[in-house]
Amino acid sequence: MVLEAIKYTPHSLAILDQLRLPHESVYFPIKNSVDAFNAIKSMTVRGAPAIAIVAALALAVELANTEFESADDVREFVGDKLKYLVTSRPTAVNLSDAARKLENLVNETDGDATTVVRAYITAAEKMLVDDVSDNMNIGKNGLEWAKKTIGSDKFSILTICNTGSLATAGYGTALGIIRSIHGDGLLSHAYALETRPYNQGSRLTAYELVHDNIPATLITDSMASVLLKSHPEIKMIVVGADRVAKNGDTANKIGTYQLSIVAKHHGVKFVVAAPTTSIDIQTKTGEGIAIEQRNPEELVTVRGPVVDKDGKVNKEEAKTVHIAAPGIGVWNPSFDVAPATLIDAIVTEKGVAEKDQNGEFHLESFL
Ligand code: MRU
Repeated sequence: MVLEAIKYTPHSLAILDQLRLPHESVYFPIKNSVDAFNAIKSMTVRGAPAIAIVAALALAVELANTEFESADDVREFVGDKLKYLVTSRPTAVNLSDAARKLENLVNETDGDATTVVRAYITAAEKMLVDDVSDNMNIGKNGLEWAKKTIGSDKFSILTICNTGSLATAGYGTALGIIRSIHGDGLLSHAYALETRPYNQGSRLTAYELVHDNIPATLITDSMASVLLKSHPEIKMIVVGADRVAKNGDTANKIGTYQLSIVAKHHGVKFVVAAPTTSIDIQTKTGEGIAIEQRNPEELVTVRGPVVDKDGKVNKEEAKTVHIAAPGIGVWNPSFDVAPATLIDAIVTEKGVAEKDQNGEFHLESFL
């Protein structure tokens, strides 16, 4: 069985409900941009590339099922819907990058309403296809870099969050590199952080690793330092990215920053895997990246909340267990920033960025 977070055929889109994994594999339809907005905000679909593609395709389905009188009506409709979709989650740049490209495309396409709609749909469908091939190339480039940098003896890898088929159109970025290294026979063992509070590691990455028969072990987030100390065969930490600033500072799932620090302390390579759509050349450093604050409920409860398609908590299905003292304050930033100084390489589909002798990445050459 192929793991597929996004099922698309012309006029129809369905996503795998990631709030229910690993217990249930349930798809539900996304008929329009409101469905997509709610699915992204509730994290029914999550992962930087996946949310961009679901937003783009939801609008493709909506356009295919709507009558327009003129090309300008289409352009106005697309502009409004994309602006709305971009507000669903702020940190990942892939969504606003996709929205900007799609809006430019409809504004630059001449012809009648049907022509403009068709141009939008073709471009959105291409994003789905391109993401898979980009991820395969990230995997290939990551494997080559690891062979060159770490050597040809088997080694182990640590990762955080979920960056695999469930977070993308398929194969994955950081998890794609783990897949490629495993496929080449070079992987000794993969370690996955459970990734509190939403548990993308224990629920989703563990699910993908088990699905692919990759030898793997789950640890809690607080075990990372002692794991590196006691397991010298771990030579590499590989993480995904929600937004890479011009200087290489990388926003990714909360906990990534501490991994970059412990990697340096233990002499382990710290690698970011990111499609070039995750590079935000307009943002100079990580200081400029907006970090999403999420619902305190994620921290003080487990197995919940389960959220309906309309974005409301489904109290009947939630079966929520409260694990914190009632009344305690909660801080729940969803992402943090690993500084470029602690990153050894940024692996993209176009090649691997490494720092020059002055310690600087030159990411603009990849765009
Ligand atoms: O909050 P999430 O689950 O959307 O966060 C996801 C991550 O931080 C991923 O590492 C990142 O989006 C890259 S996914 C290929």
